Amino acid sequence: MSSRLRILGALEEAEGHISGQALATKLGITRAAVWKHVAALKRAGYEIEGVRSLGYRLVSAPDTLTEMDIGCHLETRSLARRLVLLDRTASTNDDALRLGREGAPDGTVVLAEQQSRGRGRLGRSWVSAPRRNLYMSVLLRPVIAPVDAPQLSLVAGLALARAVEELGVEAQIKWPNDIVVGGRKLAGILTEIEAEADRVGHVVVGMGLNVNSQASEFPAELQSRATSLRDQLGAPLSRAMVLATVMRNFESCLDVFVDGGFAPLAAAWQQRSSLQGRDVEIVGVASSWRGRCAGIDWDGALLVQDERSAQVERVVAGDVTVAGGYRA
Ligand code: BTN
Repeated sequence: MSSRLRILGALEEAEGHISGQALATKLGITRAAVWKHVAALKRAGYEIEGVRSLGYRLVSAPDTLTEMDIGCHLETRSLARRLVLLDRTASTNDDALRLGREGAPDGTVVLAEQQSRGRGRLGRSWVSAPRRNLYMSVLLRPVIAPVDAPQLSLVAGLALARAVEELGVEAQIKWPNDIVVGGRKLAGILTEIEAEADRVGHVVVGMGLNVNSQASEFPAELQSRATSLRDQLGAPLSRAMVLATVMRNFESCLDVFVDGGFAPLAAAWQQRSSLQGRDVEIVGVASSWRGRCAGIDWDGALLVQDERSAQVERVVAGDVTVAGGYRA
């Protein structure tokens, strides 16, 4: 880790001021070097107060997504340790899929400040307002059977829900992986898999998380259907800190999944399900049908009791809405 990053970490950690000498000792560098790094951090937009008798205090950090901003929050072993930071791109999922084909390592994260063609599930688009939210794609090379790879979407959904809970927002998961608060969408996940018959080549888990967009900034048609962490908490958040919280939760859920499959995560997932016990409509390619949501199976399939036959059916794909047009 660079000295600059360690200074930032020490300033973040300090409750109040920390002296130049204490920083120098902690990092094993001279006070003059500390001064130089602090000056560079100020130039990068960090507001750092210097009081002669007390030392330095971090007043505010810019809401940028540089290696430094992210690095000082990141606590993962491998996720996001390799970052590809883009100002603008068509879709971070496309970039991550390409990097996957080119051999980029497991855990690589592509992050963009804006996307011109952000993609959602079922051929929808993902509105990507510049510099407000998180648009990120995680490249994974899990040693799992191709048939289990779609479960990564549910694993990512649980991780996102846990991360936003840590940040103070009670979220639910709408099967398979929308993160909703009070019926409004806070985040979406698009998982894309490149596999051979018996082997997963690579998987890209793309996440769009509304962090600092305000309700009025969403397009008119989304204003009653979307929300952001800022909307929910009443204050903006550091996107770098939010990203690090998501990655830490994703890594710990992934560890459990790679070890024991989805089953050990199913109860935690189901606890947060927005469809539990609700009357739902399953919209398939050829037909649609209705039933009552009875939970999820050990592998993440949605269990729905068909209203006509009373049989509990496993739903593995498709769009699910709450019957009667009520938002889940
Ligand atoms: C959905 O809810 O339909 C899924 C939305 C996924 C959006 C994210 S934003 C980052 C990544 N890049 C994309 O083009 N899509 C995903």
